[in-house]
Amino acid sequence: MLTCIGQPEIGFGQVKTAKPLSGINAKTIATMGASDTRSFDSDWLFSRFGLQPEGTTKPEPQGLEQVAFEDASWQKLDLPHDWAIQGPFRIDLAGETGKLPWKGIGWYRKHFMIPEADRGKRIFVDFDGAMAYAKVWLNGHYLGTWPYGYSSFRMDLTPYLKFGGENVLAVSLNTEKWDSRWYPGAGIYRHVWLVKMNPVHVGHWGTYITTPGITKNTATVKLAISVDNQGTTPVNAIINTNVYELSASNKRGVKVASAKGPAIKIGSEASVTINSGALIPHPKLWDIVSPNRYLAETLVIVNGKVVDIYNTPFGIRTLQFTADKGFLLNGRRVAVQGTCNHHDLGSLGAAFNTSALIRQLKILKEMGCNALRTSHNPPAPELLELADQMGFLVWDEAFDCWKHGKKKLDYNQLYDEWNKKDLQAMVHRDRNHPSVFIWSIGNEVMDQRDVEMTKHLAGVVRAEDPTRPISNGYNDPDGGRESGAVVALDVMGVNYFFSQQPKWDADPRYKDKPTIGSETSSCVSSRGEYFWDKEYQNWQISSYDTAKPGWGCSPDDQFRTNAKFPNLLGEFVWTGFDYLGEPTPYGSDETNLLNFRNDPSKKAELEKKLEEMRIHNPPSRSSYFGIVDLAGFPKDRFYLYQSHWRPELPMAHILPHWNWAEKTGENIPVHVYTSGNEAELFVNGKSMGRRKKRPNGDFRLIWDSVKYEPGVVKVIAYKNGKEWATDIVKTTGDAAKLSLSSDRPVIGSDGNDLAYITVKVEDKEGLTVPRSHPLIKFEVEGPGEIIATDNGDATSFVSFQSHERPAFNGLALVIVRAKKGMKGKFTVKAISDGLEKGTATVESK
Ligand code: GAL
Repeated sequence: MLTCIGQPEIGFGQVKTAKPLSGINAKTIATMGASDTRSFDSDWLFSRFGLQPEGTTKPEPQGLEQVAFEDASWQKLDLPHDWAIQGPFRIDLAGETGKLPWKGIGWYRKHFMIPEADRGKRIFVDFDGAMAYAKVWLNGHYLGTWPYGYSSFRMDLTPYLKFGGENVLAVSLNTEKWDSRWYPGAGIYRHVWLVKMNPVHVGHWGTYITTPGITKNTATVKLAISVDNQGTTPVNAIINTNVYELSASNKRGVKVASAKGPAIKIGSEASVTINSGALIPHPKLWDIVSPNRYLAETLVIVNGKVVDIYNTPFGIRTLQFTADKGFLLNGRRVAVQGTCNHHDLGSLGAAFNTSALIRQLKILKEMGCNALRTSHNPPAPELLELADQMGFLVWDEAFDCWKHGKKKLDYNQLYDEWNKKDLQAMVHRDRNHPSVFIWSIGNEVMDQRDVEMTKHLAGVVRAEDPTRPISNGYNDPDGGRESGAVVALDVMGVNYFFSQQPKWDADPRYKDKPTIGSETSSCVSSRGEYFWDKEYQNWQISSYDTAKPGWGCSPDDQFRTNAKFPNLLGEFVWTGFDYLGEPTPYGSDETNLLNFRNDPSKKAELEKKLEEMRIHNPPSRSSYFGIVDLAGFPKDRFYLYQSHWRPELPMAHILPHWNWAEKTGENIPVHVYTSGNEAELFVNGKSMGRRKKRPNGDFRLIWDSVKYEPGVVKVIAYKNGKEWATDIVKTTGDAAKLSLSSDRPVIGSDGNDLAYITVKVEDKEGLTVPRSHPLIKFEVEGPGEIIATDNGDATSFVSFQSHERPAFNGLALVIVRAKKGMKGKFTVKAISDGLEKGTATVESK
């Protein structure tokens, strides 16, 4: 049994769960915007045309946007929705997009009433994101389009609305016109909102709050508020803003300041931006350790009547980016300990879910991650709200391509017409979030050496928000600096290639430019798999955390690089979580070659490997890059990062597991990750010796030749000579029972709130049995339902919706929710032949 000082304790050494952060759940998310903003997610109808899941094609009929179109047979569903996550996984489809049939044409229709009493109001629908090439119609009238699937956008319904009658909103999406290097999902995969406002109102994302002067005694708050008059007559309006404290659980607290504006005249169909300010006494700063926030409530007053209320949560903090002292948050040096993540939520696909994201962020926090890179696109707005609330820094990224695509149907098709609109949408939506600390205009774009394009895009962002630095992630950092493109940026983002760093640190053009590891490591591993002869076997990867693609490095190597360049702002590891698609090294995606544009021999070597993969066509459908697997179970690497990122947390972690009957008497390397600096390893009470880390040289302790005998492996870690932490791994007995534990005993009944139930295959003593893969059946009794199952195996073709799946190396996952609107307790059962069944109870309130 594992005993680890200061650590939650579960099962064998390879699996420990994250400690929950209290007080944050899906209901306590702050939202920016108009006070009358309602969910518009329920009761949509959906039908799929074009490419079908099995590969056939269904013609798209004409007139699907028309009110009279007969849609009664369409599938009824609630958003967010990803039409491709149900699969089936198909071996003939590309691994890079998850072997899932995401290409197709999807239509959504919604019938809804707007009461007569709303006549005279402006009614909008806000889409947080729709993949891809969204076109929207109301009652047969075309409202507009937003092609980039990661941007949020608004449609004004008012001109064609029937007040007091039924309306039909129709949305068409087309992913056949889109290409991707990862699984993008398909459909209206984020939330949709109905917004009702008086004709005179704060514009869309119409507040911009900055805090230019911050001292201990006061913070100067600057407000720029744009107010639209969509009425038929000019008005005199007064715009007042009250500022309140905002609690961690998003409750409005005491009023701390107010800004009163003079009356302003706004013409009909005009928009005016007013600038005002307020002073907040003794400001409570937003910080990653104390994420204090405020709420600005803006009132639009016409003829003495409040006609509009608009809420803007914000935070007060200082950001300094220096070339010599790194990044300073509120004057304190903070090393960026970040992870890159794609937007999918594993077995839920791209369909956004707040409780799923909260779970991910808690796991990352527990590891010591303090920053998120939204690779390679704007995230769901909730990610920023949660980052504000939980205390993460965010590198908010716009694009993976500019004018020249990595794939045929990339953003290159949209660049000319949309680059400015998409960038503005990102910055306007996100610029009040204290968590956003860097804007990124791209990732490894083909045009990264282009001076004019870089200047243009940086200029667009700077015009909307000059308070944050602008960066770009370079996989050709030397080319970008040689050409001078990097001059247009405030922070240099280096992906992987640090070899020339000393040269650029001395270059007069760049010596004052702070540098960050915008993407690092790309270590690959499969949870619970250990191989000694070859790192890669059976489409899995050994979990000693040393395997990586040609452009990557082990986490330890990156820590050494970081130590060599202490002026680096920090790093964003590729990636925090495994994601759907990009199963490197078992993928054949040609765009990988772009990482070797300056190295022909490495490029040729990789070309050969890709060709091999094309021939073998492995079943791999999700990545191996994650520090945490697709199901959310930490891999060994989690503890390597934790040991480095949370040096104050007493912890030790032994790998591998100790069930190697067939290797009795053979050498098994044992590695220990610890926040201590020294450790002694024991096998069945016998010391295997004491090892010490060289400062900035070793980040793990290794006993290379431990002869395997069943029993107990124990490590005692020391810090500065004092006992610090311990870990124990035991040889287990045979699998005897299933044990279930829910991350949340109580969930909401709104149909969105989720509980994640971990299933462990245990021996009689309650030890998790590694290398056990029994087939498990899941059932629910009571008002709950299973929405997905997973086990973290990147090669499994079992549908995520299946209620039956094998465990992968001792673990499986069931995700459940309460049936919409139903309260009470429900029991989740896990059944497997020959094993005692396991149950967990969840209450829906
Ligand atoms: C980078 C790229 C990422 C991902 C990663 C895998 O070059 O920016 O999107 O592909 O490689 O190592």
